[in-house]
Amino acid sequence: MAEKLVLAYSGGLDTSVAVRWLHEKYGYDVIAVTIDVGNEKDFTFIKDKAIKVGALTSLVIDAREEFVNDYIFPALKANALYEEHYPLATALARPLIAKILVDVARAEGAQAIAHGCTGKGNDQVRFDVGINSLAPDLKIVAPAREWGMTREELIQYAGKYGIPLPITSKSPYSIDENLWGKSTECGVLEDPWNEPPEDAYVWAKSVKDTPEEAEYVEIGFEKGLPVSVNGNKMDGISLIKFLNELGGNHGVGRIDMVENRLVGIKSRETYEAPAATVLLAAHQSLETLTLSKIQYRFKQKVSHELSNLIYEGLWFTAHREDLCAYINSTQRFVTGDVRLKLHKGNCTVVGRKSPYSLYSHGLATYAEGDQFDQSAAVGFIKLWGLPAKIQGQIQKEK
Ligand code: ARG
Repeated sequence: MAEKLVLAYSGGLDTSVAVRWLHEKYGYDVIAVTIDVGNEKDFTFIKDKAIKVGALTSLVIDAREEFVNDYIFPALKANALYEEHYPLATALARPLIAKILVDVARAEGAQAIAHGCTGKGNDQVRFDVGINSLAPDLKIVAPAREWGMTREELIQYAGKYGIPLPITSKSPYSIDENLWGKSTECGVLEDPWNEPPEDAYVWAKSVKDTPEEAEYVEIGFEKGLPVSVNGNKMDGISLIKFLNELGGNHGVGRIDMVENRLVGIKSRETYEAPAATVLLAAHQSLETLTLSKIQYRFKQKVSHELSNLIYEGLWFTAHREDLCAYINSTQRFVTGDVRLKLHKGNCTVVGRKSPYSLYSHGLATYAEGDQFDQSAAVGFIKLWGLPAKIQGQIQKEK
C-alpha cells in the first residue's frame, strides 16, 4: 500500500501540479487539505479540484475561529508588529496551518506532509519548523523547493497530466491573504523606489475614492480583547471582517515596507490590514490609560521579542508561550472603549475611557481643582538627577 501524505492545498497551479508530482516522484497517496483562515476563496471549487487533479481525499477545514482566538488575539494583546509595520497576518496563520496538517496526518495515518512554498521565503521556515516541533517523526516535502520548474515548465507539466490551468489570468503579484491582512509582492514592487500602483491594493481604497466625510467608530474591549463595535457585541470573526470593510472603505491600512526576511533577503512588500490597523491603534491607546508606566514600558520589549518570534516561525516554542503568558497577565484591566476617526486613509484615536483608568484629572489639570503638590517636585528632582549631576561634575569631557 502506498504511503499517505497530507498536502496543504490552495487550489492554485503549484499545489495542483504538486498533487500529481508527489505521486509520480515519490508514490504518495495525497490527502489535500485546504484551510480557511478567512481568505474568502471558493472552497467547494477547490475541494473538487483537488480530487480532479488526483488527490485521494480532499478536505476543507474552517479554522477561522481558532485563528482569531488563538493566534490573532494574542498578537493583538501584544500590539505585535514586525519591524514596526507588518501586523504579521501570514506569519500568524502558518503555525495554525502546520498544526492542522499535523492533526490530519495523525487522523489519516499519513507519514509525510507537503506544502507549496519555495525555498526563498519565510513560509517554508514557518511550516517546516512548526511541523518539526509538533511531529518530529513526520517527513516534510516541499515540491516547489525541489522540482526547479519554471512557470512555463509547470504549465507544460499541467498540460501533460490534464491539470486545469487557473481560469483567471495570473496576477502580476504574489498574494497571500487571511482575516488579519493581505500581503502583496513581486512585479513592479520589486523595485523599492517604485510607488505601488493602484492595482497592488484591493482591500483599502485609494483616498481619491474614499468618503469626504470622516466616520467615527467605537470599539469596546474586555481584558484586552475587542468585543463590540459601536455598542453592538460581535464575535471575533465578524468584528474583524466588519473593520476590514469599514477601514478599507476609508483607505485605512495600506502599508508599504522593505522587510528583512528570515533567509537573509530584503524584500519589498505591501500589505493591507484595515482591521488590524484600527484594532492595534485602539488597543494600544486603551493601554495608555490602564497600564502603569513600568508595565507599558516592559510590555513594549516583550512585544518586540514576541513579534520577532512570530515572524521567525518560532510559534510552537516554550519561549513564545512564556511571552504570551506575560502579555496575557498585563491585560486584566485593559477594559474600556476607544473612539476612532477614519478619514482619507487615516485612522486616529480621538478618545478613550475605562472603568480602570489610571488617569487622574485632579493630578493632570492645570485648571481649577489641581491636586498635584508641585513643591514635592523639588526634592524628587534633586535625588532623581543626583547621579547625572555627580557624573557631570567628575567625568566632564572637554
Ligand atoms: N512577507 C510576509 C511574511 O513573511 C508575507 C509572506 C506572504 N507569503 C506568500 N507566500 N506570498 O510573513
